[in-house]
Amino acid sequence: MYVSNIYLNNYRNYKKLDLQLSPGISVFQGANGQGKSNFLESIYNLCFGRPFRNLKESDLVYRDAPYYYLRGSIYLQQRSYKVEVGYEKKKKRKIIKIDGRIDRSNTFSGRCPIVFFVPEDLELIRRGPEERRKFLDREISQISPLYGDYLSRYKRVIYQKNRALKQKRLSKETLKNLIKAWNAQIVYFGSRILQTRAHFISIWNKFASHNFGLLFENEHQIEISYNNFLRKKPLPEKLSEIESLFGFEITAKEDEEYSRGFSLVGPHRDDLSFLIDGYDAKRFASHGQQRSAIIALKAAQIQYYHQKNEKPLFILDDIFSELDESRRQQCFALFSNAEQILLSITKKEKYLDPIFDNFSCSSFFHVNNGIITEIRENGDNRTCY
Ligand SMILES: Nc1ncnc2c1ncn2[C@@H]1O[C@H](COP(=O)(O)OP(=O)(O)O)[C@@H](O)[C@H]1O
Ligand SMILES: [Mg+2]
Repeated sequence: MYVSNIYLNNYRNYKKLDLQLSPGISVFQGANGQGKSNFLESIYNLCFGRPFRNLKESDLVYRDAPYYYLRGSIYLQQRSYKVEVGYEKKKKRKIIKIDGRIDRSNTFSGRCPIVFFVPEDLELIRRGPEERRKFLDREISQISPLYGDYLSRYKRVIYQKNRALKQKRLSKETLKNLIKAWNAQIVYFGSRILQTRAHFISIWNKFASHNFGLLFENEHQIEISYNNFLRKKPLPEKLSEIESLFGFEITAKEDEEYSRGFSLVGPHRDDLSFLIDGYDAKRFASHGQQRSAIIALKAAQIQYYHQKNEKPLFILDDIFSELDESRRQQCFALFSNAEQILLSITKKEKYLDPIFDNFSCSSFFHVNNGIITEIRENGDNRTCY
């Protein structure tokens, strides 16, 4: 997929921006705080109909403006779609239109093959399990809207159950009955979450371990493994088996949950492990190795789309300034699989030359305080208002 004809109005530090993009690579260069991330994140918002990661809608509106509006063309499997996203601050109202028609079901979520790579991703292995669960949930819901649906229903039940367990306002009898009903739902949605997580982790692991082998000439191996709360490696493939293991575990912990006052059992306690040469990378690998593991994982996400015959859009926001020379080279190797690459950098340096040489179709833009100017080789530069 690729995006083009991007129009931003009152979005972050862009009062107005009208930008043509092509397949191939587009590089956005600008000092810190000029609007590179804002621009790249607007593409995410356009394609998924929701703000990038933890951003809040109201913060995306330009200063005191009453709304923001985004428009763009998304080219997906030989078809082009005109997508519009608008948000009204006062009414907290969001409207998404596809080809001029209001789209309530968020049709595009789950259909856009996009891999986003930002510096904080490089620290994923060092962070806590919650960050890794967020990573799993975000990346999988992007591919499978059904997963997103299970997840939000699951979270709602866990929330209700935790609140009741903590408050203990109800009689023990009533609470126990309620918990039985909630647990049935937790097992239902939770097992589907487990099964889907196991499915994607195993695909990513397959590609990532191959990639990691290439990066280190097979001297080092990586395994990305699903550290599920059931402690099953591998998790059974059959849903009914997962459900029965889960049901058994949750029943066994009923009394303990009651006395401790919160839910102890379920995929909200899962983790994702990275093992390098069989050892937990979080504890034993060098910082550089941990970062290579993430590069291998990002590449795996791109390869997953390729395997499905989808050509992804790859967005790298200021990754290179965080990486040393050898790891930059590792990243370059990923590029060949994408249909469009949007890359932001703070400085144009020599190491970037091979990128431009490798891509017949490349464009270069300067980002300066909410204004983007296309730099053309013939000197006929164009500001994109
Ligand atoms: N809602 C907003 N309205 C106006 N300016 C904003 C808004 N949100 C962020 N900004 C400005 O955007 C700039 C940061 O842009 P960012 O895209 O993160 O820069 P970078 O080029 O470093 O990636 C800051 O100057 C910030 O003040
Ligand atoms: Mg930035």
